[in-house]
Amino acid sequence: MSEKLKVGILGGTGMVGQRFISLLENHPWFEVTTIAASPRSAGQRYEDAVGGRWKMDTPMPAAVKDIIVKNVNEVEEVAKEVDFVFSAVDMSKDEIKAIEEAYAKTETPVVSNNSAHRWTPDVPMVVPEINPQHMEVIEFQKKRLGTKRGFVAVKPNCSIQSYAPVLTAWKEFEPYEVVVTTYQAISGAGKTFKDWPEMEGNIIPFISGEEEKSEKEPLRIWGKIENGVIVPADDVKITSQCIRVPVLNGHTAAVFVKFKKQPTKQQLIDAINNFSGVPQELKLPSAPKQFIRYMEEDNRPQVALDVDYENGMGVSVGRIREDSIYDWKFVGLSHNTVRGAAGGAVLCAELLKAQGYISAK
Ligand SMILES: NC(=O)c1ccc[n+]([C@@H]2O[C@H](COP(=O)([O-])OP(=O)(O)OC[C@H]3O[C@@H](n4cnc5c(N)ncnc54)[C@H](OP(=O)(O)O)[C@@H]3O)[C@@H](O)[C@H]2O)c1
Repeated sequence: MSEKLKVGILGGTGMVGQRFISLLENHPWFEVTTIAASPRSAGQRYEDAVGGRWKMDTPMPAAVKDIIVKNVNEVEEVAKEVDFVFSAVDMSKDEIKAIEEAYAKTETPVVSNNSAHRWTPDVPMVVPEINPQHMEVIEFQKKRLGTKRGFVAVKPNCSIQSYAPVLTAWKEFEPYEVVVTTYQAISGAGKTFKDWPEMEGNIIPFISGEEEKSEKEPLRIWGKIENGVIVPADDVKITSQCIRVPVLNGHTAAVFVKFKKQPTKQQLIDAINNFSGVPQELKLPSAPKQFIRYMEEDNRPQVALDVDYENGMGVSVGRIREDSIYDWKFVGLSHNTVRGAAGGAVLCAELLKAQGYISAK
């Protein structure tokens, strides 16, 4: 019998769900045993339910093709088969909140890719290299839910992953004002060019809800646990514009920063290249060896060349220059469906296992 933890994927037929399934093929700790989706897919073999919708570059793993898809709403049926679940269902915010808590109440931990619980005060929203200590709020959440091992943990939005880790690496210089423009890939909307032909050669200057997430979520990640809830930081101001661009995978951010303590360019580069955290210390299976790298070439990072850095789990930074209005500016790039979605959630689950929050039922 496999020693691996049994994992369910809620929303496994969707784009993020498919990414979870691809990333977990041959995972040393986790094995996908259960897949759930809408009632439209329930009862079908996974391969049939997905049909022509497989969007990954790699083939569908053979081990999942014959899994009979369950209905996400039949919570007990799914929960009894698994040690924990990843959530990537697309429903209304209130429905997602309710269903993720329903799974937690069956004593099934939920590691979610969704935004629904990102502002629930006792739900940790974690980038494992930045705020692994926020998982401690889970004990307070379990008291609220009345559970022993069930809880919800989330990862933040894909847009912040190209700059929030960099600003964290520069914390000692006290960044306090940030202007960011993100150039976001179409896969962030669950689309390819086949599904969204009007994006070819086009730019759309609006992504619903994205600017608020880009400005506020970093503050929650830099926050502190006080009286059983996460209190966001308030010492940095971020303003943003989020633009959809004709790129399949990879969110780029162009960023201007003011610092209270003036760094040199070399200090900024050294802080990036030397930044590492608990995932690197614990050698978690999905942890990038070097989370953030600095690229000296003027024309890097480029989506086409750099999006897969560290298997899509790393952040590439370039073009650090002094600015005439702000202090410094730079460009960051990360993979929105790997580090920004499923990969970030898998790393959170690995951290939760290492911290003892996720174990066999
Ligand atoms: N794409 C990204 O890069 C990204 C990044 C961050 C966050 N997200 C978020 O992640 C979630 C999934 O995104 P996605 O791009 O993977 O979406 P998607 O491709 O549309 O997949 C949605 C999944 O949810 C299921 N679903 C839809 N309606 C349902 C219902 N009423 N009841 C139960 N299941 C239902 C679908 O099942 P069927 O196949 O049976 O319809 C499918 O498995 C969304 O909330 C999205 O906002 C996406």
